[in-house]
Amino acid sequence: MTHLISPSLLSADFGNLQRDIEMINNSKADWFHLDIMDGVFVPNISYGLPVIKTVKKHAKKPLDVHLMIVNPDKYIDEFYKAGADILTVHYETCNHLHRTIQSIKAKGMKAGVSLNPHSPISLLKDIIHEIDLVLIMSVNPGFGGQKFIPNSINKIKELRQLITETGANTLIEVDGGVDNTNAKTLVEAGCNALVAGSFIFGSKNPIATIENLKHL
Ligand code: DX5
Ligand code: ZN
Repeated sequence: MTHLISPSLLSADFGNLQRDIEMINNSKADWFHLDIMDGVFVPNISYGLPVIKTVKKHAKKPLDVHLMIVNPDKYIDEFYKAGADILTVHYETCNHLHRTIQSIKAKGMKAGVSLNPHSPISLLKDIIHEIDLVLIMSVNPGFGGQKFIPNSINKIKELRQLITETGANTLIEVDGGVDNTNAKTLVEAGCNALVAGSFIFGSKNPIATIENLKHL
């Protein structure tokens, strides 16, 4: 399987959102990455359900929704109705992660779990076989345009090993500071999906940038 590209709309031009959605539709990107921030779990507020619904109306590719919110269980049904295809919660926000994953899957969505930079891979040992996707945060969540944390590469290798050893069917996605200087290393370390925001939307030719990330 070739790796997937999930452009983060956090860095899109919200005044021209439909244009940026069409750009992704017409590109080699695989998913739309949508960052939901509540100002509590992370020190920033992004956008919410109405924006997800709008993206869903125009998007021709799956919505990869990243919840950086406390009490994610409360909103699983709302994000399902808004059009999420993959719903990722943070390990750090779930007291009953197994139950949360089952609730996401019961709606027919893929269930993702994200780990902050300080959270070790070993936390997922007893639940990995239930998880469709692990999202490794390679920056502290909350903002686009931050610097990649190099230890993320070791974490991805360790996670790849855990998945292989347990025979789990889990995708690895990485989020934060991804660009053309680290993308190849990340895929070689075992990543299946790369999220990129500022690197894509801050470039002169986002379509070409996506293509370059796709063909490393
Ligand atoms: C950060 C978000 C990311 C962000 C990535 O909290 O989860 O998805 O948009 O932005 P870049 O690629 O600019 O680091
Ligand atoms: Zn994200």
